[in-house]
Amino acid sequence: MKAIAVTPGKPNSVHLTELPMPSPNDVPRDKGVLVRVLKVGVDATDREINESLYGNAPPGDHFLVLGHESFGVVEEVGRAVRNVKPGDFVTATVRRPGGSIYDQIGTYDMTSEETYYERGINLIHGFLTEYFVDSEDYIVRVPQGLKHLHVLMEPMSCAAKAVQQAFEVQRRMKVWRPRVAYVMGAGQIGLLATLVLKLRGLEVYTLARSRAPTRSSEIVAGLEATYVSTSETPVEELARRVGKADLIVDATGSSEMAFTAMKHLGHNGVLVWTSITGGSHTAHVPTDKINIEWVLGNKLLLGSVNANREHFESGIKDLALGEVMYPGVLQKILTNPVDGLDNYQELMRLLVEEKSALKVYMNVGAE
Ligand code: BGC
Ligand code: ZN
Repeated sequence: MKAIAVTPGKPNSVHLTELPMPSPNDVPRDKGVLVRVLKVGVDATDREINESLYGNAPPGDHFLVLGHESFGVVEEVGRAVRNVKPGDFVTATVRRPGGSIYDQIGTYDMTSEETYYERGINLIHGFLTEYFVDSEDYIVRVPQGLKHLHVLMEPMSCAAKAVQQAFEVQRRMKVWRPRVAYVMGAGQIGLLATLVLKLRGLEVYTLARSRAPTRSSEIVAGLEATYVSTSETPVEELARRVGKADLIVDATGSSEMAFTAMKHLGHNGVLVWTSITGGSHTAHVPTDKINIEWVLGNKLLLGSVNANREHFESGIKDLALGEVMYPGVLQKILTNPVDGLDNYQELMRLLVEEKSALKVYMNVGAE
């Protein structure tokens, strides 16, 4: 069967390759699930893997099959599988456990080991192929009624984890009543984080450079949050108007913006960094000023990566509630489809060149 792969270490090496057809029996203890791939989303991680900024092939292979945002239908299951059955729509978690205690209790997203195993990213082949097999432990059911949001399940899991982690660490406050949230960046993670925060009852300001109206500003308004163009309203002015943020999620994709966000957090607040920045950008930061404000304000910086099964499940619940509260809004994130694995060049071209794309994804197989 066909698959889209890169040769790690070689820039712009994306190509079509062949993989053997997998079987549920490839997984021990009859827990295998064979999934026919319907759609796969791509993001900046895939772009940077193709630029050879990171990503490693599985041991023994020279290539890495891309794709970590999966959506498919179950074809066949091993005898011990209980959670899904043929015909179910599913997605799959991305990371697989290493050896640390956190890996062993299902929180592989929190591994304490330097090496991490991620399908389509590091050391394990991804989902940009016709079929894949995995243990039912990593397969998450997607409700019928959400199938139109298909490849958003994985990005949503990362947004859900970022917010969940913020609330988790803020237990240090005994009572934490966050009122104002800033989401920096209105790409897919920023928009999905906007939803998660709205559903938790916060007053959400989603910031991006472009002036409204844009597709992102429409989605933010559709989620009953407030879109702020930083070209019109500098963050300082927003803070004067509505107060500094109790919680900030940075999803700009820019490390400089991630540091800049430190200036806008209120006392006892938490800033969550989610951007994966594979480059080597440097910037000047007012360190004395930030340092004193952070110490005097008991502020907290939290990095958040990946997601485990629990975050996929809570993310899916939030998508379901979001769909009921703001019907038709979330699917506007799914901007740029490409048909068929043969069109991998077009997939990568859109990912690199189409600056207004919120989500580039491939229609791999027909439902
Ligand atoms: C993926 C995450 C992954 C991270 C780091 C992101 O693009 O969505 O699942 O953990 O990259 O590799
Ligand atoms: Zn990703």
